[in-house]
Amino acid sequence: MSFTIIEPAPARLNRSELAVPGSNPALFEKAARSAADVVFLDLEDAVAPDDKEQARKNVIEAINDIDWGTKTLSVRINGLDTHYMYRDVVDVLEQAGERLDLIMIPKVGTAADVYAVDMLVTQVETAKGRKKRIGFELIIETALGMANVDEIAGASKRNESLHFGVADYAASVKARTTVIGGPNKLYGVLTDKEEGKEREFHWGDMWHYPISRMVVAARAYGLRPIDGPFGDFSDPDGFRAQANRAACLGCEGKWAIHPSQIALANEVNSPSEEEVTRARRILEAMEQAQREGKGAVALDGRLIDIASIKQAEVMVRKAEQIAAAGG
Ligand code: GLV
Ligand code: MG
Repeated sequence: MSFTIIEPAPARLNRSELAVPGSNPALFEKAARSAADVVFLDLEDAVAPDDKEQARKNVIEAINDIDWGTKTLSVRINGLDTHYMYRDVVDVLEQAGERLDLIMIPKVGTAADVYAVDMLVTQVETAKGRKKRIGFELIIETALGMANVDEIAGASKRNESLHFGVADYAASVKARTTVIGGPNKLYGVLTDKEEGKEREFHWGDMWHYPISRMVVAARAYGLRPIDGPFGDFSDPDGFRAQANRAACLGCEGKWAIHPSQIALANEVNSPSEEEVTRARRILEAMEQAQREGKGAVALDGRLIDIASIKQAEVMVRKAEQIAAAGG
């Protein structure tokens, strides 16, 4: 371990994160009753400029009046380059009650962006005597944000999670795609020429690098890495594939831009019973090994050692968190 100890963000389930446009209050009650771990009420890109003010009012009313149960509740404010952003922070924090947990900051480009919002939030919290400290969710969705992702991740004690905003990211780096978060048939490799063999084209994951890069920054600073949207809500298999590959890379949740994606995200980001059982067996085997003064033992023909304890503990802790939240 390094001598530098990083405090992890508060532990929250973040398997699914439902996006709900602040301009459409008809969707709020349904979102509150959904199985999403986190709901974010959007004031940014799902809301047209003419609807921004009304959306802000709707969101404040919804935070105060709707029973959100045990959900984590967030508001996505507008970007720091707009004139809506300061009012989003000030009005929401002055007028909405303590039920709000997080603020989501889009298009974060530098650590100073986080600092600026932190300063504003701190002033309102102090002036209004708010008791619960608001946490930050940061969307990494620009080339600048990705270039500065490490400094951004460490920029505030309020930071809880980094999110990969694939749609804006694609636009920012001028990637050749027009879909949100899916694969691209142009991105792949053609197998080499071999006598008597047909050449095959293997599709690749064009988002592998940015997701991995963001995961490293998030984990290094004790934050949750979360994969963003998958636009084709009529393609559950496509969603599951994208969610699985993000989970393999270290993400612990994914956005749902449609209610049908919530169950899929929860499923992919929950350890299976088989995984949890094996994790518990690893912990038992290692306890036994330690009683016998051994650092490593074999379980089912495979080596396990002290690092295996940490992996197994992560799995078991996640299963306990899910059970505590009602499954
Ligand atoms: C999310 O905000 C995205 O741009 O993908
Ligand atoms: Mg975006």
